[in-house]
Amino acid sequence: MTLLSLRWLRLALPCVLVAGFASAEPQTLIFSHVVSENTPKGKMALMFKSMIERRMGDQFQVEIYPNTELMDDDEAVDAIAEGRIHFAAPSLSKFQNYTTQLMVYDLPFLFADMDAVERFQGSTAGQALLTHMSEDGILGLSYLHNGLKQLTASRDFSLPEDLAGLRFRIIASDVLQKQFELLNAEPVPMAFSQVYQALADNDIQGQENTWSNIYSQAFYEHQSFMMQSNHGVLDYMVITNTDFWNSLTADQQQEFRFAMEMSVKYGNAVALAKNQNDRAAIASMSGVTLHEPTMEQLAQWQNAMKPLWQEYEPQIG
Ligand code: SIN
Repeated sequence: MTLLSLRWLRLALPCVLVAGFASAEPQTLIFSHVVSENTPKGKMALMFKSMIERRMGDQFQVEIYPNTELMDDDEAVDAIAEGRIHFAAPSLSKFQNYTTQLMVYDLPFLFADMDAVERFQGSTAGQALLTHMSEDGILGLSYLHNGLKQLTASRDFSLPEDLAGLRFRIIASDVLQKQFELLNAEPVPMAFSQVYQALADNDIQGQENTWSNIYSQAFYEHQSFMMQSNHGVLDYMVITNTDFWNSLTADQQQEFRFAMEMSVKYGNAVALAKNQNDRAAIASMSGVTLHEPTMEQLAQWQNAMKPLWQEYEPQIG
């Protein structure tokens, strides 16, 4: 080796090492959500992380922030749009600052069961909704199930008029707001992380959610009366930032899609099992009265809420 090449090596080596070290450092990807790890979404996120790190750990590490540790879901939608975080799975009710079309999921009694939700999501119209916000920076990779929503309150109820005057927590959504106004209840938009304390303080007297969320958040401690109303759906869209997605190679995108597909399948299976098991656990609690409405009662709830379908048709399309 000549003196010249030795000198070049001495000068160049640190640069080569720094460049090599930088490219060897895996990129950290942030996944933010608001529920506990022992929920369909929490478990889906953990499986996604483990698959990505097992298959592409030299390139990516996934940091999950559950339980609103990093931000609530309203902020997460903005943070995805702005590229501040990489993944989130907000409820489909959380997108109204970006689109009116997803309001379809908030319409009461539109989906008879989760099979109907699944069919719609798999249809051309349902799939198109995943990508229709991509110019705003929000790209849907998949839907993820939680389940059908149930009504809970701190006083007994079986008919729509029984809820009059109660303050009901809602996700901030125009449709959900009107739904409770139709019942002469007072809708109170509130972040998920604040609901338990608001129930404990009697700041609100009711809320709507899935069995899995009612159970994992211990809402039953302050909601002695529940109805298996199945009146709405709480599902999620797993989203990423469009520019981040477009910066990936085709092979990386394929790996992410595969990990997403597997972890969503797993999350959906967890959702199904949890909603059955958590319902059974709540039904067996001595402090909780769980009503199963008769067909006639259900028809009254549907009649009370269904005017929303026509009202929102022009906006949703
Ligand atoms: C969630 O399941 O992500 C939270 C839903 C809610 O805000 O009620």
